[in-house]
Amino acid sequence: MNIKDSLKSLKPYQVEAEFNGIRLDANETRNFLFPEGFVLNTFEFHRYPDHSAKALREALSQYVGIDANSILEGNGSSELIELMIKTYVEKDELIMSFEPTFSMYRVYSNIYGAKFLGFPLNNDYTLDVDAFIKAVQVNQPKLIFLCTPNNPTGGQLKKEEIIQIIRSTKALIVIDEAYMEFADATESMTQEVLDYQNVIVLRTFSKAFGLASIRLGYMIANETIVSTINRVKSPYHLNQVTQTIGIEALRNIKIVLNEVKDIIERRETLMKRLSSLPIVVYPSKGNFIFIQSPDKKLYQPLLNRGIRIRAYQDPVDSYRITIGTQEENDTLYQALKEIFR
Ligand SMILES: Cc1ncc(COP(=O)(O)O)c(C=O)c1O
Repeated sequence: MNIKDSLKSLKPYQVEAEFNGIRLDANETRNFLFPEGFVLNTFEFHRYPDHSAKALREALSQYVGIDANSILEGNGSSELIELMIKTYVEKDELIMSFEPTFSMYRVYSNIYGAKFLGFPLNNDYTLDVDAFIKAVQVNQPKLIFLCTPNNPTGGQLKKEEIIQIIRSTKALIVIDEAYMEFADATESMTQEVLDYQNVIVLRTFSKAFGLASIRLGYMIANETIVSTINRVKSPYHLNQVTQTIGIEALRNIKIVLNEVKDIIERRETLMKRLSSLPIVVYPSKGNFIFIQSPDKKLYQPLLNRGIRIRAYQDPVDSYRITIGTQEENDTLYQALKEIFR
């Protein structure tokens, strides 16, 4: 059987092997919400989940201050990225973002036979907004992904820059705020998104909530977009275990926000410490730090010391390090000092 042309060069998503050391490679957080586990003994395992995830969307509505009808749940925010492309982008239409950024925008574009254009970030990984807008006007994309704070570089766009981009185009604009809890909340577009017909804000429970395992994301957009994507999603796409844990997590939002505050403090401390080493440290607003180490390779020497970080070939000599616990960060810093000694 011939595979679709658009999928011929598709490689499986690379997942790292099992590892018992310190994992600072996937922007996960520690299990701070449910360290004692989660009891589901009155659970109706025989029933299909709530297709519209009503209770979860209502809890989310309280958290983000947006009407529940403007919120759509996803099986991870990844599912929503895929659904947006599936719903709005025809084969050979153009999807634009900047680069480097979250790799799945390009992957899903390829899967659906769309073209993908990654506008290069500046050498310091900031975005030249005027040049980006010019490129948007020349290339006329159908959909634009703006990841802010950006994975893997950590930079955050200003709200006025985002609005400038929105005003310059009729494209559907997705603002991926996966790391927004760790960033400057005044630059979040959650409170403005409903002012526009063509804007979606995307969020996830995988980072700030420390719940990557349950696969839970959500998007905020006007009701027309939400109801359109609703028509495309699979029946019962979000399992009830995830819905239930998501609601419980939102009930414990204070714990989440406290942990986030601690992570931000640990990030600032780690950034200062890393800056004392012969590496380039880029300012980060995520739960990770992006660095460049042209003089010494870091991935294998750190792995040999029981610490796994994320290494990039493009840009070369670059690494993304998730903010760990205080202990993990101390171990990382000592290991790096040893490597550079
Ligand atoms: C910017 C960004 N968006 C979306 C995702 C997908 O997250 P999930 O599918 O776990 O919600 C990630 C995961 O790393 C990410 O970094």
